Amino acid sequence: MGHIVINNLNKEFVERRQIQRNKSGAAHFDQTIPVLDDINLEFQPGEMVCVLGPSGCGKSTLMRIIAGFDRPSSGQVLQDGKELTSPSPDNIFVYQHNGLLPWMTVWQNIELGVRHTEDLTQKEETIQEYIDMVELEGFENHYPHQLSGGMQRRAELARALVVNPEMLIMDEPFSGLDFLTHMKMREEVVNMHLFLGKTILMVTHNIDDALIMGDRVVILGDRPARVKLDRKLDFPHPRDPKTAPELQELREEIFFMLGVSYAV
Ligand SMILES: Nc1ncnc2c1ncn2[C@@H]1O[C@H](COP(=O)(O)OP(=O)(O)OP(=O)(O)O)[C@@H](O)[C@H]1O
Ligand SMILES: [Mg+2]
Repeated sequence: MGHIVINNLNKEFVERRQIQRNKSGAAHFDQTIPVLDDINLEFQPGEMVCVLGPSGCGKSTLMRIIAGFDRPSSGQVLQDGKELTSPSPDNIFVYQHNGLLPWMTVWQNIELGVRHTEDLTQKEETIQEYIDMVELEGFENHYPHQLSGGMQRRAELARALVVNPEMLIMDEPFSGLDFLTHMKMREEVVNMHLFLGKTILMVTHNIDDALIMGDRVVILGDRPARVKLDRKLDFPHPRDPKTAPELQELREEIFFMLGVSYAV
């Protein structure tokens, strides 16, 4: 499960603008904004795919289409041979911006993911396990607005991971986390992926995250985005791009591709 094929995918947004012409009234014109341009990709079941690209190029749009929240203008996304046209309960999406339900506490938000577990003791243990994992013990009864940005991100990650989904789609899941929590959550996601082997798609701006975590790295170019690089990363974990020469080379190539000539 989790075999994804993207065929000739295009997406354009149509913006309806109103212009004041003369006394006889307003006229409309439609402005088309092409965002994704002929995207063809294939992800193997259990692959961890990291997607990089300049801001505004269409990464979130691509993820929303793969998750079934948005439809392409043309082309298709197949999951295990079936066209994806709407969101599936087997796939979990971690939003770039706040995805917690504001009227629910941390506990209740995470509980949503395991609401079908009948054994109450097991359910409570699982929720507590994930709350501990993201170090939110003591904040179980807090509402999202009572948490810092980083704590909200951690609660969101726990909410997604507790579901143990077929496919996990994460849109910049580590943004807003402090450095140490970022490192810890990164390690947690890598371990979880090695252990469970589920397909994970992750958008990131952090090249090292992609090189350390990914089985595959995909780079999108400026809007309208095309695939600039689609590379399998066959390196054992744990990885350190600063010491493995091949990863170091790829790191510099990606920096260059993203318009930075001096890799930091
Ligand atoms: N619903 C929409 N209607 C019109 N235009 C949209 C819509 N959603 C996104 N866009 C446009 O599509 C382009 C890509 O947006 P998207 O959010 O996919 O970028 P991104 O690569 O995720 O950027 P970032 O790295 O900043 O998150 C942008 O130019 C944006 O303005
Ligand atoms: Mg985005």
